[in-house]
Amino acid sequence: MCGIVGCVLNKKAAPTIIDSIKKLEYRGYDSIGIATVTDTINLKKGSGKINEVDSEINLKDIDGNIGIAHVRWATHGNPTKENAHPHCDCKNNISVVHNGIIENYKELRQELIKEGHIFKSDTDTEVIPHLIEKYMMEGQDFLTSVQTTIKRLVGSYALAIISKDNPHEIIGVRNESPLIVGVGENGNYLASDVPAILNETNKVIYLEDKEIIILKQDNVQIMDFDLNPIKKEITTITWNSEMAEKGGFEHFMLKEIYEEPQVIKDTLSESKKIQEIVQKFKKFNRICFVACGTSYHASLIGEYLIESQIGIPTEVILASEFEYFNKTLDDHTLVIFITQSGETADTIKALKVAKEKSETLAIVNVVGSSITREADHVIYTRAGPEISVAATKTYLSQLICIYLLVAHMGENQELLHKLDEISDLSEELLTHEEQIKEIAKKYKFAKDFFYIGRGFNYPTALEGALKLKEITYIHGEGYPAGELKHGPLALIDDNIPVVGILPPGPSYNKTYNNLQEIRARGADIIILGASNDTQIDDVEDKILFNPIIDEIIAPLLYIIDLQLLSYYISIEKNIDPDKPKNLAKSVTVE
Ligand code: AGP
Ligand code: GLU
Repeated sequence: MCGIVGCVLNKKAAPTIIDSIKKLEYRGYDSIGIATVTDTINLKKGSGKINEVDSEINLKDIDGNIGIAHVRWATHGNPTKENAHPHCDCKNNISVVHNGIIENYKELRQELIKEGHIFKSDTDTEVIPHLIEKYMMEGQDFLTSVQTTIKRLVGSYALAIISKDNPHEIIGVRNESPLIVGVGENGNYLASDVPAILNETNKVIYLEDKEIIILKQDNVQIMDFDLNPIKKEITTITWNSEMAEKGGFEHFMLKEIYEEPQVIKDTLSESKKIQEIVQKFKKFNRICFVACGTSYHASLIGEYLIESQIGIPTEVILASEFEYFNKTLDDHTLVIFITQSGETADTIKALKVAKEKSETLAIVNVVGSSITREADHVIYTRAGPEISVAATKTYLSQLICIYLLVAHMGENQELLHKLDEISDLSEELLTHEEQIKEIAKKYKFAKDFFYIGRGFNYPTALEGALKLKEITYIHGEGYPAGELKHGPLALIDDNIPVVGILPPGPSYNKTYNNLQEIRARGADIIILGASNDTQIDDVEDKILFNPIIDEIIAPLLYIIDLQLLSYYISIEKNIDPDKPKNLAKSVTVE
């Protein structure tokens, strides 16, 4: 994945382009590059984060009213300056930024090398400017050369392309990677995501797969791959760019955790819409969730809820494993896709297969994202833009949607009633910060952590462990509390902190006993329990006292402690939690 930006302005473009691409750094931060057109193609790029490269080569100091830029998350070729986009043809007449993967690039590269083209990078992307060069040299104009080129590409691509001989336009292409158009007063914009352009305009056109765009300063033309014009609606975005910025917090992750009480409220307001969707469902006797990462953990809680509260057979499949399980889908199965970005390649691929046989529902955060255009029904999670790579507020908003869905499907007024108080109760969890900072200081040198929980709170253990791995680089393992004695107990000693999720409810006693077994092996225990729990009150362990709620609702609150714990361990270890190494926010490749 990566982020791309392009703009055609009535003024020098580089300052706007660099400010815009900074908003997309969450999509990739291996390298940054910019190209503009004057009477030539002007190019600057380097490996590393935008500010590092900018302080070395002053990225805004480049002339031209038209330009493109890219932040990269490498798929083909190391994260070096040579592999940084934009990539050019042999004569530096054409310059391209690309998000996606060209699957047949090896054959194309061989063919072009045989014809005399000289390659400067190891990327799959570089075949694109050379193909355009080839077709322009054969006499085709810029647009037709791009059209002929994309007919030869197999894979996913969002592209922004400039040409020295066509200095008044950018050509954009969208196919299975996100791309939007911004329509502004000073010119027009292309970008991978809306926050990139919000400082310039709030008028957006959402593009579909297999669309080509000609972007000029006063005009935007959109057409299909056969160059037939397409009429599109302009959407006015109601959230502003400040909402996507840090708002006084040191990191986006902490800001996003603090937004959770509001996000819970906002998402609860979708209750009526969810009820309407439930009424439209056809008849089904099986439910299947499909998701990745944190969204997969939210789905697991959905499985526990549906099986226990409604009694419909339910399973959860990792999107990347979906192809092994899709044969059993039929028109009596409801397939639910959970995704923050709506752009995760594994999830999109699974949805395309599932919708051929079954009714599909997507629970998505990003409005207008690819998945929202494919699914039969869409529920929005209303968490707003999430910039930190580690999902926090969007996980909670996914859970709220799932609980509402289950409550409406089962006409469970009691569950609906319990959800009403969650937003206020979640404020209490944020007061644990000082205590969590102390725990983080104590355990920052640990090499492994275990997280245990039962039933509805087992997925919380998995999600707590994922947060730890992602942003502290400490190995964390989530386990069902009752399963530890079947193997992993052999690992427990006084070097391993164990986090026990221990809300009141039917599984309390068993989990409490499992924690005693662990304590007997010398491990330090960090307990997340209810504030009226007198059984845990007098032990020496670290205890985080939470509001008194039953275990069925506990996943909506207890995860906040675990998000804060990982955040403060990452701070103790001097890691930037917003940009963990080797990861990026949206995984738009399989
Ligand atoms: C969560 O902290 C991770 N960044 C990651 O596991 C993420 O949840 C996963 O890639 C799925 O993304 P999606 O929800 O946008 O589909
Ligand atoms: N495949 C291209 C590269 O490796 C683009 C990367 C991406 O979109 O993730 O440079």
